[in-house]
Amino acid sequence: MPIPVANLKPSLEATASEWQARLAEMFERGQFILGPQVAAFEREFAAAMGARQALGVGTGTAALELALRAAGVSGEVLTTPLTALFTGIAILTAGARPRFADIDPETLQLDPDDAGNRAGKKTAALLPVHLYGQPCRIDRFSRLARALGVPLVQDACQAHGAHFLGRPLTDFSPLVAYSFYPTKNLGCLGDGGAIATRSAAMARRLLLLRDGGRQGGQVSHAFGINSRLDEMQCCYLRAFLPHLADWTAQRARLASVYDQALADCPGVRLVKRYPCSVHHLYVIRAQRRDRLREHLAGKGVGTAIHYPVPLHLQPTFRDCGARRGDLPQAEKACREIVSLPLWPYMRESAALEVAGRIREFYQAKR
Ligand SMILES: Cc1ncc(COP(=O)(O)O)c(C=O)c1O
Repeated sequence: MPIPVANLKPSLEATASEWQARLAEMFERGQFILGPQVAAFEREFAAAMGARQALGVGTGTAALELALRAAGVSGEVLTTPLTALFTGIAILTAGARPRFADIDPETLQLDPDDAGNRAGKKTAALLPVHLYGQPCRIDRFSRLARALGVPLVQDACQAHGAHFLGRPLTDFSPLVAYSFYPTKNLGCLGDGGAIATRSAAMARRLLLLRDGGRQGGQVSHAFGINSRLDEMQCCYLRAFLPHLADWTAQRARLASVYDQALADCPGVRLVKRYPCSVHHLYVIRAQRRDRLREHLAGKGVGTAIHYPVPLHLQPTFRDCGARRGDLPQAEKACREIVSLPLWPYMRESAALEVAGRIREFYQAKR
């Protein structure tokens, strides 16, 4: 049996009666944008994330852009080069400029020491990413942002339900952005995103900015964008949200199966994770990574790379002030990382089979 890198079908099947009932409610009412499903989901999602409020928007990218706009950021935004390209795109569309600091080679998260060294007078905001579902050192970034006197926006697009030292992420800064891209720990069946906040003032500003600056009428009161979450996506999200804790626990179990099965595997270096991770992706560092992927593909095992090119080496970000060699840990990681299959309802025997195929590759004389 092939083992894909992600598989949404079992989660959809397990929740079918719940999302079908919500869809029936939506069709009955005939409202499709910013209606009661969105309002209810925003309340439920805020509660689940430990936030005061959540605002649904069109994508995770828009959530980041709107968070930066709501915070009034227009200069340089310090972030990680090892992230989805949309982190950088959101900085550009908010009218700001990305700047990069290197990553910690053990956890692959933005390194707070390097960020502190590279931050300066021009730094207008910090944008750390909770990569692969693992919280970064948000306590350190929160202190750094305070010392610099700049806003801190968190990219939690891969980290639904993550806490840091038992505290919700909104304890560390008022703006936390989430994506509901289908393969996320909490995904919809299209595009979607949200901003969680503990600030009532920020929530009011975001309400305005996500809807063209409108206050319910046809007059724009602020330079906003059009980025709204629709009712249909909230039918799915409301059906999935009550399962998030269970699905995260399943991911954690599978991740520990991989940890044990690959612990002393030649050619493989595990990425350090903390117990507070929500295990969005299971990523290892692998010697001869591309050959390993070919071997696994030949055995029906899907893999992916998150991410193959660090942002500072992508053409769109060529003006970010960093060149090849400037962020050596991120550049090296991008040559070695590979994401292994991981999804709720995946069998532990499948994870063991993947680990066995990896061992087989490194044990063979090549
Ligand atoms: C870390 C990170 N930031 C931002 C995004 C952008 O989210 P979206 O695809 O919903 O716009 C993603 C999703 O791909 C992501 O993983």
